[in-house]
Amino acid sequence: MRPAVEVEALHRSFNRTGGVLHGLDLRIGAGEFVALIGRSGSGKSTLLRALAGLDRGVDGHGRVRVPAKVSMVFQDSRLLPWKRVLDNVVLGLDGRDARERGRRALAEVGLAGREKAWPHQLSGGEAQRAALARSLVRDPELLLADEPFGALDALTRLNMHTLLRELCERHRPAVLLVTHDVDEAIVLADRVIVLDDGVVQSDVRVELGSRRDPADAGFAALRRRLLGALGVDVDEDGLVHDPDPDDLAHDRPDRSRGTDRKTDRTTGRTTGREGA
Ligand SMILES: Nc1ncnc2c1ncn2[C@@H]1O[C@H](COP(=O)(O)OP(=O)(O)O)[C@@H](O)[C@H]1O
Ligand SMILES: [Mg+2]
Repeated sequence: MRPAVEVEALHRSFNRTGGVLHGLDLRIGAGEFVALIGRSGSGKSTLLRALAGLDRGVDGHGRVRVPAKVSMVFQDSRLLPWKRVLDNVVLGLDGRDARERGRRALAEVGLAGREKAWPHQLSGGEAQRAALARSLVRDPELLLADEPFGALDALTRLNMHTLLRELCERHRPAVLLVTHDVDEAIVLADRVIVLDDGVVQSDVRVELGSRRDPADAGFAALRRRLLGALGVDVDEDGLVHDPDPDDLAHDRPDRSRGTDRKTDRTTGRTTGREGA
């Protein structure tokens, strides 16, 4: 079967500054869930915008083939504040049954009964649920998500992982999810790719079955491998030896205090010398 996404030799640069993407190749199968990780500034959002066709005017060349129906979710919900939740979800949709489909999508993301709420009345997690409903109701063959859970607290993020997995199993879009959270990538994806210097540096299949426990040895081994690909030094116990200050960490407590610190990635607990 033909892949849902085919990218070949993709180049992108801004203002002739050496470039961001340097001949990137990527394929995503129909219904496949791919997570994309990489250092801050490595070009993840640039790639997503290219796939979404949102980068007209940016210098570059290469081949991009995506399905007809592409939907994107961002770190913030981008709900229009002057429209009620259901009106946001069905914005621009045609058809007499649009509102009924919107209602069903809201029910699917756990927001039944909130159709008439205003965006400011939603919590961060609820707003992201509404954003997911707005994507789903368009029945996308490709869902692009740029750090969609990055601004949520840890517990809400875990609930969103469960929801996203269920929705993807039911609707089966191809997914490209950008995250800076390696555990999130492993929990959700069929494949994790690491972007570095504008190309795919690693491409790893997640062979952990459907029940993925961050405490399992296989999970920990994959976490070490991916963190290694990101240039983070991790020892056998899962302790991170802080590398350069580039922001890869999700649950690393205050990095500004002292340098000789290690963080247990499964508990988020920090050991070692505390700074002043
Ligand atoms: N509109 C823009 N104009 C100029 N430079 C940009 C623009 N968007 C992104 N960049 C630069 O391109 C590089 C990659 O950015 P981005 O794709 O946002 O990285 P990531 O999402 O991986 O953090 C960064 O160096 C960033 O400063
Ligand atoms: Mg980005």
